[in-house]
Amino acid sequence: MKLRSVRGTHDLFGDNIEKYNIIQKVVTKFAEINSFKKLETPIFEFTELFSKPLGEQSDVVLKEMYTFKDRNEDFLTLRPEYTTPMIRAALTNNLLNDLPLKVFGIGPMFRRERPQKGRFRQFNQINFEIFGSNDCIADLELINLANDILKSTLPNTKFILNINSLGKKQNLIKYKEYLSKYFEDKKSKLSSESRNKIHSNPLRILDSKNQNDIEISNSAPSIKDYISTEEKNHFDELKNGLKYFGIDFKENNKLVRGLDYYCSTVFEFKTNDLGSQDTLIGGGRYDGLISILGGPDISGIGWAGGIERISMLMKNQKNKKSPIHLCISNIKFKEHLIKVINYLTKNNINFYWNYKYNLKKSLSKANTNNAKYVIIIGDNETKNDFYTVKKLTTGIQTEVNLNNIMNLIND
Ligand code: HAM
Repeated sequence: MKLRSVRGTHDLFGDNIEKYNIIQKVVTKFAEINSFKKLETPIFEFTELFSKPLGEQSDVVLKEMYTFKDRNEDFLTLRPEYTTPMIRAALTNNLLNDLPLKVFGIGPMFRRERPQKGRFRQFNQINFEIFGSNDCIADLELINLANDILKSTLPNTKFILNINSLGKKQNLIKYKEYLSKYFEDKKSKLSSESRNKIHSNPLRILDSKNQNDIEISNSAPSIKDYISTEEKNHFDELKNGLKYFGIDFKENNKLVRGLDYYCSTVFEFKTNDLGSQDTLIGGGRYDGLISILGGPDISGIGWAGGIERISMLMKNQKNKKSPIHLCISNIKFKEHLIKVINYLTKNNINFYWNYKYNLKKSLSKANTNNAKYVIIIGDNETKNDFYTVKKLTTGIQTEVNLNNIMNLIND
């Protein structure tokens, strides 16, 4: 059998895991500042949790879910996103008794998409949700949070926030009907992919990347003309608030998002530095979704960002090496080595040893790793019960007993 990883999956190690850890730290820091609590859900759920809410006609449900039959005939799906599992978890654990509920998660998602740069079949998301507020401040808080996280992790990357309002669900239904009629008339000029969506999912034709489709949808009726005054006011409040936060944005009437549950505010942070998979973070409101899943009729809003896409734009991290190396000349001094290791670990001091009873090899490793100190355990040391601590930058050697090692290496 030839060993290989599954297409569209990747291992995290070295520089990538350093970046992953940095993103996780930044996310946790901003989650705390904004009072979001961590909520982690299982990797798989019952399939029905996803199929209706995400949209029977959405790409994710139609083509991308990893679904399998369990031994007891239940259909299970590896989660393609966090929002619906988080709502499920909030409902089954009675977390919605105390509103608003603000939760976040960091973990793997699964979508059987065609792999390409920035697009994987297993990828990691950071995800934030606020359940129970339709106040525009919640929209602003979440967008500001996303902006802070991107600015912190990608200080040198240019990204731009795209925003749109899809209005209330009932307006959106009318708009979709109108769009279907509009595209039906232009059917022969549309790409075959868009033609298939005329009645099932006309909104998605608006974000087609096919040049003909783009031209046709440029003259399509705008969602702007279909949203209620209340929704217009909400959108104006959002735009004014963004100015106040100092966040640049682009109003994009064609931004519709890929999942069916959205209404009202939708947004995406995009960059030109990633090729066609250019969305770093995407999200929006999904009023009505919680009640579809059997919960109370309360609002929800959230976003998710792709860790891999953010990582790809982060600068390479310095490979952290231990500043303290151990050098032992002979296996017969093992007991002394154990004593030193015990001493260092009990004092929370990071150290490195190359598992070689060979002074020369260990010293050479310390030099290539740019270590600051070596602790030497040799004939002289063990006979006289002390250890030699050598500062490599100056070459100065000091002989100390075990309990004084800390004093020497603490700078
Ligand atoms: P989404 O737009 O499907 O939204 O995904 C959010 C982000 O996940 C994307 O912007 C991208 O960075 C990353 N992503 C998605 N698919 C892939 C992939 N195949 N490979 C690598 N990265 C990927 C959602 O998932 C919604 N649940 C977001 C949300 C939360 N809306 C409200 N609350």
